[in-house]
Parts: sequence; structure tokens; C-alpha cells
Amino acid sequence: MIQDYHDFLGEILIPEAKLKARVRELGEEVSRDYQGKQILAICILRGGVMFLTDLIRHIEPQVAIDFMGVSSYGVGSRESDGQVRITLDLTTSIAGENVLIVEDIVDSGNTLNSVIELLRTRNPASIEVCALLNKVSRREVDVPIKYCGFEIPDKFVFGYGLDMDEYYRNLPFIGVVDLEKYEPEI
Ligand code: IMP
Ligand code: MG
Repeated sequence: MIQDYHDFLGEILIPEAKLKARVRELGEEVSRDYQGKQILAICILRGGVMFLTDLIRHIEPQVAIDFMGVSSYGVGSRESDGQVRITLDLTTSIAGENVLIVEDIVDSGNTLNSVIELLRTRNPASIEVCALLNKVSRREVDVPIKYCGFEIPDKFVFGYGLDMDEYYRNLPFIGVVDLEKYEPEI
């Protein structure tokens, strides 16, 4: 049985209304910066999905989307080992495009760093990062985040796209996991 999230929810860190307001602001900021240009928004699966679909509703310039599957750690683990695997590649060419990487959270920075390195080899016109959450204190590799939703403390969070062992992505808020109360399915 998958545990009810109420059993391990430490606190609601970012409620739904706050997420909505901030995502709108980010979309407006992106719109101002890319006025008259086309954007290719690349969503990092799977955590970035909710954020992408909400964000692009507030983007006015022409925007296309594509998806990249990246896995930095497996079920049961809570941090990336620096070994980033591409599990699904883009279907469009990014040569000459203004790429906007849309990511749920930047933690050590390993995932984004690898993705940026890979995408650079494909000659886009530009690459910028839009990340909903930023755990600054955990950074191991420096990555340029142009658009950042919220800086958050070093706590494991879930909801609004982010998972605990693949579940709870559907919740409309960002919650903190009380790891002592969380019981993974075995
Ligand atoms: P990084 O490579 O260490 O920056 O890790 C980035 C990836 O780890 C993100 O794309 C998330 O999928 C995942 N991640 C990091 N912190 C959390 C968290 O608190 N909750 C859920 N997923 C997380
Ligand atoms: Mg994840």
C-alpha cells in the first residue's frame, strides 16, 4: 500500500496559491525577456511536468515544447550520485533555438550540469534555465539559473511534480517529507 501523505507530511512549505502566483510571475518575466523571439521549452522529466504546463500558460512569445528524460537516482535513494542517465532524448533539433530548460528542483546541480553540457553540443542559439525550486545549500556544481521560483532549505520535498519514490507528484502544493515517518513500499 502506498502511504497516505498526511502520515509523513512535515509541513506545507509552499501552498498552491503561492505556487500559482510565482509561476505566473516567472512566465511574465520570461515573456518580457523573449519578446519577439521563439522559445523551445525543454521539460526535464518527470518532475518538471506540472511546472512546465502551468508556466507556458503565462508565456506570450511563440513557444514549442519538448521533453527529456533524465534519471539521477533510483527509488529509495534521496540524492544523485553524479551519474546522470538520459532515459529519453528530445525529438526535435535544437540547433539555432532559444532553449529554456524547465526543471523542478536544482539540488547538487549534477543533473542540470550534465543536461546543459549535452545540449550545448547541439548548437542552440541560447540556453537558459528556469527552475521552480533551488536548494542552494546543497550545490556541488555551479549552474546558472536565470529564472528561479523559490529558494528552499535543505529538506526533502514532494508534490507539484516532485515525487517520493515516484508517487505524490499530483499534489497541488510543495510539502516537506518527515523522513522518520515515511515508510517506503517494499
Ligand atoms: P541534482 O542532480 O542533485 O541537482 O538533483 C536534481 C534532481 O533530483 C531533481 O531533478 C529532482 O528530480 C531530484 N530531487 C532533488 N531534491 C529533491 C526533493 O527534495 N524532492 C524530490 N526530488 C528531488
Ligand atoms: Mg525526481
